Amino acid sequence: MRMRNKKNLIPRMERCAAVQVKEPEAFRGRWASLLPGCTQVRAEMGCGKGAFTAGTAQAAPEALLVALEKVPNAMVTAMERVCAGQIENVRFIDTDVVRLPEIFAPGEVSVIYINFPDPWPRKKEAKHRLTAPSFLALYWDALALGGRIEYKTDQPWLFDWSLEQFRALGYDLSEITYDLHRDGPVGVMTNYEERFYAQGLPIHRCVATKTRPEHAPLPEPARRPRPQEDDA
Ligand SMILES: C[S@@+](CC[C@H](N)C(=O)[O-])C[C@H]1O[C@@H](n2cnc3c(N)ncnc32)[C@H](O)[C@@H]1O
Repeated sequence: MRMRNKKNLIPRMERCAAVQVKEPEAFRGRWASLLPGCTQVRAEMGCGKGAFTAGTAQAAPEALLVALEKVPNAMVTAMERVCAGQIENVRFIDTDVVRLPEIFAPGEVSVIYINFPDPWPRKKEAKHRLTAPSFLALYWDALALGGRIEYKTDQPWLFDWSLEQFRALGYDLSEITYDLHRDGPVGVMTNYEERFYAQGLPIHRCVATKTRPEHAPLPEPARRPRPQEDDA
């Protein structure tokens, strides 16, 4: 079922038009040109309401952060946050992550953030997880050699499953922790993370680095993902 649009969604998005890119294909291969002195292009998958987006961009003003989100009702809050903070180095795209190859040229991205992705717990839904092999292959293509994925989740089973997928595709794993904030808050928290942290839930995090040009073959029957299909 499609979520009803928030009141005034369209005018709210229009007020933040400066931070939204409606035709991202036009910037494929030249995202860095949007930020004078840009040293890196980073991308966030499923930014939600954007607390992490805004905080991460402010911490690295020399990097352009391109945030993808398929639910405009959430993304508009993120856009408003970035506009209100007068943060210059973020652009938003209202899209599904499966469109990644149309948005970024091979090797264009240095860092990809995946924070608290929807878990899709049923086995037949696994292909929708943002750490499914077909998605990991899309990230691989977009990442430069030496580029990395920074991944956080509160779901231990999903974390373990994702570690397996990262390894199987050929990513090098580091900074693996099952309790990121054990000794106090670390890094920029996302909107979901703030809630989980307040509840005392452990946060799992790892870094997956592309250290060779080619990834391992995709397992059968993993195919390049398409926009979400009905599982019924
Ligand atoms: C559980 S929320 C987490 C939001 C945010 N990352 C955070 O940690 O607060 C997952 C977000 O990812 C978005 N999302 C899930 N699958 C996506 C996809 N295939 N393409 C784009 N966005 C997606 C959802 O719409 C949702 O806003």
